Amino acid sequence: MNAPGTFTLGPGDGSARTGRLTTAHGEIETPVFMPVGTQGTVKSLCPTDLQDIKARIILGNTYHLYLRPGDELVAKLGGLHRFMGWDGPILTDSGGFQVFSLSGLRRITEEGVTFASHIDGSKHLFSPEKVVSIQRNLGSDIMMVLDECVPYGADRAYTEKSLGLTTRWARRCREAHPAGDRGQLMFGIVQGGFFKDLRAQSAEQIIEVGFDGYALGGLSVGESRAEMYDILGDAAPLLPAERPRYLMGVGAPRDLLAGMAAGIDMFDCVLPTRNARNGTLFTFQGKVNIKRAEYREDDSPLDPTCPCYACRTFSRAYLRHLYIAKELLSYRLNTLHNLTFFSIMMERARQAIREGRFAAYRAEMEALYPEGE
Ligand code: GUN
Ligand code: ZN
Repeated sequence: MNAPGTFTLGPGDGSARTGRLTTAHGEIETPVFMPVGTQGTVKSLCPTDLQDIKARIILGNTYHLYLRPGDELVAKLGGLHRFMGWDGPILTDSGGFQVFSLSGLRRITEEGVTFASHIDGSKHLFSPEKVVSIQRNLGSDIMMVLDECVPYGADRAYTEKSLGLTTRWARRCREAHPAGDRGQLMFGIVQGGFFKDLRAQSAEQIIEVGFDGYALGGLSVGESRAEMYDILGDAAPLLPAERPRYLMGVGAPRDLLAGMAAGIDMFDCVLPTRNARNGTLFTFQGKVNIKRAEYREDDSPLDPTCPCYACRTFSRAYLRHLYIAKELLSYRLNTLHNLTFFSIMMERARQAIREGRFAAYRAEMEALYPEGE
């Protein structure tokens, strides 16, 4: 096997690319969607389910695992892979974003971000060195640097100051984890809000620090689709072509397609798993809201073309019943299905890129998901 961090590009179509990224726990074909397993589990699924649905890499969260059960405990028990029984690749987010979205009372200084736990209100400091130490304890295959995800609507002065801090934090993260150490990769994060020149400034600085891959952060934070696509189209080409590019926290089917068209290789989002638990299901015939009365007596499978266990075994009527009765199995079957849909959608996208028909595939999927979600 190639050394961790090796990234080989395959055939492309326009700016869309296919590739293969080597990690210490296996190779990933890109573009890839990473299911979110915040607390050391993709909610309601077992690792064997993740294998069945061909998930190739999952995402874990530094913020949650540090607070509970604690990264030192996880390290003592052999690292996150062993602890959760998943021996495929894991990417961990740095906690920067979760601190901003979940915890109360945060204060940003040069040193790092001080915050109160959303669990018990206890106070903690995430410095660049601390989040690297936590991610080394977790043993993730890809760790992310500490960054500030600039809130939507932040003005130019705030955004410029913030991106400088994000760069200095990125440098400290790099210094705390030498390139290639322990086979754990580290990705930098570009910020810069909704100012194109600030995005360029951030990209230049983060690339200069030098990472195994580069992420675009600070998108899907409340802006319109048009605004996101505008920044995406402008900023993605600024990231080195020979390294993996990751669009954080995105997204809906049409956003993944827009990302791939812009040359993005990796994505993560809670959308398929969270929507599954809300009864919103993705199919290759369009979106299905399983609680609707029209499915009460519907004996047909959720998606007749889907190979997942839920579609092979149960009717829409049964899935509706489980959802309405709030049965635990509802979460599990719906999650299995939605992640299967995302997995197949990405596999088809890779195939379409390789065969030079990505634009047609994108148009076909956009017609199924006209409003995006
Ligand atoms: N997840 C979604 N957006 C972001 C971001 O801007 N930064 C980090 N660290 N994680 C994210
Ligand atoms: Zn299915």
